[in-house]
Amino acid sequence: MSAVLKSAQARFEPFEARHLAAVIQVEQQAYAHPWSETNFKDALISGYQAQLLIADGEILGYFIAMKGVDEVHLLNITVAPNFQRQGWARLMLDALAIWSRGQGATWLWLEVRIGNLRAMRVYESQGFCQVGKRKAYYPAGSGKREDALVMGLRL
Ligand SMILES: CC(C)(COP(=O)(O)OP(=O)(O)OC[C@H]1O[C@@H](n2cnc3c(N)ncnc32)[C@H](O)[C@@H]1OP(=O)(O)O)[C@@H](O)C(=O)NCCC(=O)NCCS
Repeated sequence: MSAVLKSAQARFEPFEARHLAAVIQVEQQAYAHPWSETNFKDALISGYQAQLLIADGEILGYFIAMKGVDEVHLLNITVAPNFQRQGWARLMLDALAIWSRGQGATWLWLEVRIGNLRAMRVYESQGFCQVGKRKAYYPAGSGKREDALVMGLRL
């Protein structure tokens, strides 16, 4: 079921350790193969760019990105199921692209499951192009693996 916000006062807030439990709850609702608590803790300890999108005290979504020399790698972008299809992913991708340019990056990279057509469409509509494939990159249950598509946005 889709939820409507009481106010349009969405804002970004740095993702910190105190948010872990709430983020993990959203992550588990959003993915068949969610990141573990350790994945999130490692990302926070590594000092990656990690932002929550919050409105009315609720987490709408979040992203985590790793800065390289002249590129940024998006590791996780998630919109809470109740708030999907309202443009929040596009807003987070725009914000990340602006931050990345400010860091002097010329490319923004990400991987997406080959079967995640919804996410792929969102990335394509934001200007990302398919640049390659990583075989058997993601776990897919029952010991199987799923390929990843590598997508890139020239900033
Ligand atoms: C993939 C994902 C991040 C997209 O997030 P989202 O917030 O739903 O994406 P957006 O709303 O920005 O855009 C998606 C759709 O909403 C539509 N939309 C955008 N703004 C809208 C608005 N104001 N009103 C109505 N619809 C809107 C878009 O047209 C698009 O529609 P389409 O799917 O028919 O093309 C989200 O579905 C998700 O978190 N999925 C689970 C985790 C996941 O797969 N993450 C990506 C891993 S690579």
